[in-house]
Parts: sequence; structure tokens; C-alpha cells
Amino acid sequence: MKILVTGGTGYIGSHTVVELQQKGFDVIIVDNLSNSDINVLSSIEKITGIKPEFEEFDMIDRDKTADFFKRNNDIQGIIHFAAYKAVGESVEKPLMYYRNNLFSLVNILQGMKDNNIENFVFSSSCTVYGQPEELPVTEDAPVQKAESPYGNTKQISEEIITDTVKSTDIKAIALRYFNPIGAHESAIIGELPIGIPNCLMPFITQTAIGIREQLRVFGGDYNTPDGTAIRDYIHVVDLAKAHVIAVDRMIKKKMKKDFEVFNLGTGNGFSVLEVIKSFEKVTGEKLNYRIVDRRAGDVEQVWADTKFANDELGWKAEKDLDEMTLSAWKWELALKNLQT
Ligand code: UD1
Repeated sequence: MKILVTGGTGYIGSHTVVELQQKGFDVIIVDNLSNSDINVLSSIEKITGIKPEFEEFDMIDRDKTADFFKRNNDIQGIIHFAAYKAVGESVEKPLMYYRNNLFSLVNILQGMKDNNIENFVFSSSCTVYGQPEELPVTEDAPVQKAESPYGNTKQISEEIITDTVKSTDIKAIALRYFNPIGAHESAIIGELPIGIPNCLMPFITQTAIGIREQLRVFGGDYNTPDGTAIRDYIHVVDLAKAHVIAVDRMIKKKMKKDFEVFNLGTGNGFSVLEVIKSFEKVTGEKLNYRIVDRRAGDVEQVWADTKFANDELGWKAEKDLDEMTLSAWKWELALKNLQT
């Protein structure tokens, strides 16, 4: 069983490759290395003993993508991670985001159609819900107008998939991630932010290790118990495992609809201050932080209703917040050791 993982050297992609290999799948990665490091391939091999097949090119190139599928007609399924993901950057460079995230999707779906590949797992986001009216948020909650071009690419992608599934033999599962954090327990792979991280967890670990001076907590006046915003943080390995289950469900033809959508979260919301407290508790580090104004575009609170994923996929996130923050810290320490 050969699975194509686009963006397989990235953060969630690399963890998913490990889980796929450990379940006996053969993996071929396509990545343009625009936001990842080639050495991740050897790191994956260190964990699993298997170096995944790898091709470096950009799937926004239609001819190269078509040629790739012709040469690899034994692919049984695709997990599509490769995309730009920085919200702020997408506001500055919308065309770059639309071109990259949408053209590559179209080229891949075309390759699937032309080569009779049926199984497609798409990396979506809870960002499609905006600030939901009801919490926890279910998959049936209305999709709200996107706050950013990045968010819009996720919404448009889901629409492109919906239309394609109706007119082809392609089946799809969109996984709407909540907030993935943490790293593999081996501390051999993890998140590798280039430049200043946008996301909370790498900013915390980089501050604690001395790369950043201070964490700014965006907003202390939200309508939440401690005034800081609430998210559903999920361990990246739990998230990765859900992808393997999704692929397996498709291959075994267990889907109930041709396009299924699942929330991937723990079902628990934690505030920014709770994440900081967990980090300080499990690491013994004191974090330098200060509460500042809200960040534009942030929602106040969101966490997942996980019932559908739990019941249908038979999957449940297992790791708690302390395990997430500790694994993120071990990864940051491992990175430091690598660099010294
Ligand atoms: C992130 C991504 C979004 C993705 C979503 C779900 C960004 C900006 N957003 O959303 O694309 O769809 O996950 O996977 O990358 N915070 C601070 N200080 C910081 C950084 C963050 O206080 O330096 C706060 C934020 O205000 C927020 C929480 O931490 O309340 C989480 O932020 P972040 O990790 O950036 O994730 P989201 O914005 O929820």
C-alpha cells in the first residue's frame, strides 16, 4: 500500500509519515522544501528504520505533477499537507497563497482523476468555523467568512473537493485540525519554524530557551475565565494517528459519504495562561511573558465536539496538555543540542 504524503517533511506531515510507516504503509513524499528541511528524511528513518521515498518539486507545476503521477501509478491514497499556513503573511501576499494552496490542490486532483487514484485526505482547519455560535463546535456548524486569505484557501479547497467528488470517482476526507502542538516522544522530529514563530507553543519554547526575550500574550480581556483566549490544543502524534485511520477507512471502503469531514481536537479548551502554567509546571522553567493587546483576527474561544470522529473513526486524542507542553520542550532542547 503506497501513500503519497505531500508536505511530508513538514511538521504534521513528518509525524504522519512515521505513523504510516509504523502501520506498514509505504510512503512517498513530495515536498518543495519551502518550509522544511531535507534532514527530516533521515530523522524519520532514525525513528522507523525506513527512509521514505522522496521527490523534491512544487506541485503547483502542472506538468511535473502530471508526470509524477504517470510514473507512480501504484499510489493508493494521498494525504495532502503541502500548503502555506501563516495567517499574517497571507494578508500581505494573498496571490501567493491562492496560487500555492489552490493550484497544487487542483493539479493533484487532476492527477488522481487521470490515474484513477480514489482516496484523498485533506488537511483542513478549524479556522473555517470562525468564532462559532455554539461550543463545542460540531462539523455541522456553519462555515463563516474567512478572516484571512489563508483561511479562505482552506474553505475554497473544501469547495473544490466537494465539486470534484461529485463528478469523479474520487473520495475525500477533510480533517479540520484544531491547534496541533508538541513533538514526537523521541524528540527526533518536531516543529521547525523558520524565523519568528506565529504560533503559541514554539514561541513559548523559544522564549524559555532564550531565543526570544518575551512571550506576548495577545489579549487579557476576553470573555473567558482568566481573560485569555481559549483553544483546543492537540498533540501532533494524536493528530498524525487520525490520518492513518482516515486512509485506512478509505482503502477499506468504510466511508458513509464520498466526502466526509471530521474535527480533530481533544474536546477540551485551554486558555493561553493555562498553557503557560502547564509548561512551567512540567519543565520547571519560568516563562517571561506579558499580556498585550489582542491580535487582529483572533477568535475568543473555540474547541471541538469530537463525538463524530470518536464514533466514526474510532479515534480519540490520548495525550493531555502536560504531555504536549513537555514534548514540545524536549524537542526544543534537542534542537539546541543539535546546534551546539
Ligand atoms: C492557528 C493558526 C491557524 C490555524 C489554527 C488551527 C496562526 C496565526 N493561526 O490558529 O492558521 O488554522 O491554528 O490549526 O498561525 N498567542 C499568544 N502569543 C503568541 C502566539 C499566540 O498569545 O505569541 C495566542 C493567540 O492569540 C491564540 C493562542 O495563543 O489565542 C493560539 O495561537 P496560535 O498558536 O497562533 O494558533 P491560532 O491563532 O489559534
